[in-house]
Amino acid sequence: MLEFTEKQKQLIRLMKSGQLKRLNILEGSVRSGKTWISLIIWAAWVASRPKEYMYMMCAKSLQTLKRNCLLPLQELIGENNFTFSLSTKEGVLFGRKIMLEGANDNRSESKIRGITLGGAYCDELTLFPKDFFTMLLSRLSTAGAKLIATTNPDVPTHWLLREYLENGELADDLMRMFFGIDDNTTLDPAYVESLKKEYTGVYFDRFILGLWVVAAGAIYRVFSDNTAAYYADAAKLPHFDYINVGLDFGGNGSAHALVASALTHDFRQLYVLKSERIPAKDVTPVALYTKVKDFCAEVQTRYGRITNLYADSAEQTLIAGLRVAMKPTGIIVKNALKRKINDRIRATTMMMAGDKFRYISSECESLTNALKGAVWDMDEPNTEIRLDDGTSDIDTLDAFEYSFERYIHRIIKEFEYT
Ligand SMILES: Nc1ncnc2c1ncn2[C@@H]1O[C@H](COP(=O)(O)OP(=O)(O)O)[C@@H](O)[C@H]1O
Ligand SMILES: [Mg+2]
Repeated sequence: MLEFTEKQKQLIRLMKSGQLKRLNILEGSVRSGKTWISLIIWAAWVASRPKEYMYMMCAKSLQTLKRNCLLPLQELIGENNFTFSLSTKEGVLFGRKIMLEGANDNRSESKIRGITLGGAYCDELTLFPKDFFTMLLSRLSTAGAKLIATTNPDVPTHWLLREYLENGELADDLMRMFFGIDDNTTLDPAYVESLKKEYTGVYFDRFILGLWVVAAGAIYRVFSDNTAAYYADAAKLPHFDYINVGLDFGGNGSAHALVASALTHDFRQLYVLKSERIPAKDVTPVALYTKVKDFCAEVQTRYGRITNLYADSAEQTLIAGLRVAMKPTGIIVKNALKRKINDRIRATTMMMAGDKFRYISSECESLTNALKGAVWDMDEPNTEIRLDDGTSDIDTLDAFEYSFERYIHRIIKEFEYT
């Protein structure tokens, strides 16, 4: 028997009394029960609609749609009532045909251009390209067609907030309901407490409080406020299974940056062992390779074998040269993965807040300064951008992130599928 939270019951009452609008958007904190109830509302609503209409469900990508919506929906109402196939991008919900789309697929927008929809479901709307959403709404043209969607907040200038949620002209057409993290009374309170601790700064305001706010000020505030909390005791280090080095080749005006970090075998903690900044001016590639080798040799002598060195340079010849130079050491040189910067930042702040980050302070002066100096670029209030105007040491932050970004999904559960 399904049980609902008070907030979810409120939404069900709205639906039962026919008060859903053309656009219905559930917003708020993570884990607040938005997606769960949106799926139930969607299924119940579709079941009451004509069979000959076409319906659509979408999320950022087909994979996220499957994980966040299709599998949970199947679990909620059973395989008799809902089946789907990602390869044909189709499902059947209470006998109604459902098209499935990933909004980030470039071809998706053109695919939905000509069709007529009886209803649409969207999970995590702020992550959709605006053009896809505009097109989707224009296809909701049958009588009584509805949109049911969920979202977390984003910047206050986000198109979804500006042009839809806060658009007075749409007021009669749009229902907006807020879900806070404490509204989800089905969660273990201890889990909610730990979740609240994992998010800091702008991420706390957005993902826990559910506010549409800009990122401002120091990025790693949680670190700068109490750096001593992150000191690792160099005399009592755990055994490391994975030691990796990140290297950011700087242009002539900037610096080359090196950071070595290590993971415990259970992936529960990341230790930063050593960082170094090498001014790029007048350093030849060969001299630089020697410095990298020296850096790695010192790390290996003290802490154990380095597995990979992840490097980034606009010039592939520099990396190719490094690969040759490092060959005798047995350290494999790979191209840095270069995940989205904001994913890397979010991962770092979550590690810091979640007690998963440690560093050997006496060996990591450049990293300490880089973390303390990093600020959000306030000239770009529309997106989060880490200020990169030469006043802070972005090279070292990049190198740090290259050293662990391939493991993010193992260190932090939230990143498992991103
Ligand atoms: N009424 C409910 N009964 C049981 N579990 C629920 C209920 N509402 C939410 N949940 C569970 O709580 C967790 C978070 O809910 P979810 O809808 O995914 O949150 P959100 O979409 O707001 O991030 C999920 O594991 C979900 O299955
Ligand atoms: Mg959700």
